[in-house]
Amino acid sequence: MPGIVLVGAQWGDEGKGKITDLIAHDFDFVVRFQGGNNAGHTVIHGDKKLALHLIPSGIMYPSVTPLIGNGCVIDPRVLIEEMDMLEGEGFSTERLLISGNAHLIMPYHLALDHESERRLGVNEIGTTKRGIGPAYQDKATRSGIRVQDLLDEHILRLKVQTALVEKNDLLTKIYGAEPFDAETICTDYLRYAQRLTPHITESSQLLNEALHEGKWVLFEGAQGTLLDIDHGTYPFVTSSSCTAGGAVIGSGVGPTTINKVLGIAKAYITRVGSGPFPTELSDEIGAKLGNVGSEFGTTTGRARRCGWYDAVIVKYAAQVNGLTDLCITKLDVLSCLETIKVCVAYEHEGRRYTTVPGSQSAFHHATPIYEELPGWQTDITGCRTFEELPRQARDYIEYIEELSGVQVSLIAVGPDRRQTITRGWQTR
Ligand code: GDP
Ligand code: IMO
Ligand code: MG
Repeated sequence: MPGIVLVGAQWGDEGKGKITDLIAHDFDFVVRFQGGNNAGHTVIHGDKKLALHLIPSGIMYPSVTPLIGNGCVIDPRVLIEEMDMLEGEGFSTERLLISGNAHLIMPYHLALDHESERRLGVNEIGTTKRGIGPAYQDKATRSGIRVQDLLDEHILRLKVQTALVEKNDLLTKIYGAEPFDAETICTDYLRYAQRLTPHITESSQLLNEALHEGKWVLFEGAQGTLLDIDHGTYPFVTSSSCTAGGAVIGSGVGPTTINKVLGIAKAYITRVGSGPFPTELSDEIGAKLGNVGSEFGTTTGRARRCGWYDAVIVKYAAQVNGLTDLCITKLDVLSCLETIKVCVAYEHEGRRYTTVPGSQSAFHHATPIYEELPGWQTDITGCRTFEELPRQARDYIEYIEELSGVQVSLIAVGPDRRQTITRGWQTR
């Protein structure tokens, strides 16, 4: 079956946007299945560098139909801004499809995200403050407002008024914040509705028909495995299923339609926001990786925390996603180092872990056990085949491959689409 899932194998920002853009031309559809505009996927397409937050990274190819699936949460104001940005850059957004079952991020979700983080203080999750958690919360408590509600003014009004009874109490009485006015929200959202209506569709039906006809679908994950609500470092996670299983739930196709799962992992590791990070480097090497790798959030501009490649985490990602292939990105960034460490296990209270510890507190306090490998210290951004890479870089990739048990079939050596080494990856 012609469905391929692409997921982040670490804590996000692995380069999913670049790799989606690289392989998207082989597909008829590229589908976002979870998350919202907390994501920031950088795509360098020709001479243009674009940051996509909600719209699938395949939109630049006229032959690709981009689709935002039911598992996503959509801030319509941001979506329209992104559509305008793309149109301004010369990319048509006419083909964009949006599931009527996706949930809407409402202005009170943004306010609640801000307020709950403020209240947590030093214990904050470090969210992107885009209203993601509160929107998924409403979805789970069955009080959410969906994209299809934009198509019925009466229902939209009723739902906004009902929601505000509770949300305004929460905002004013618990958080001491300002209340929202239902009429103002409805006026804004009805204006967004006018723009978005031509794009709203029954996406599950459409995708199933397409798959049945033999069309190719790429499911573009956002965030990463360790940010998954079930399989990540809870509670320091996002509120959706970023792992491969989320692709089928978040788009309404069956698991039997998926024939490959491509995990994207950086040659080192980064994390934005709070939470455990065993291989974090708070020294000059971490700062160097951050500088050389330009590790600043695509969405919030925050500096990303940097650390050594953690093979325990990627092996875990291989398991929970059922990875068939691995893509290692940013290998070029490691050229700045004399020697490179890889975390092969953790130690906590005298016990050695070669898998992610089930206990959160063990993970929090885990001491990484490293193997040290020689660096290559030469520019590899021009390499286009595996054989062209220096021996130490090839050894590093082969070591990572051995530890994860998954073939490394793509290697990225620079942000440009052309700066990629294909090592056995075949879409079709
Ligand atoms: P995503 O969220 O997984 O799509 O990743 P982001 O776009 O947030 O962050 C990845 C960053 O690394 C972007 O700025 C990319 O342009 C850049 N990038 C991707 N692959 C490579 C690579 O192989 N080398 C270098 N130097 N930069 C890369
Ligand atoms: P892409 O798709 C990296 C992190 C936030 C925070 C946690 C919860 O670009 O890889 P949220 O706003 O989702 O409630 O925040 O998740 N986070 C990301 N980190 N890349 C992302 O997306 C992220 N999306 C959310 O920093 O720690
Ligand atoms: Mg990103």
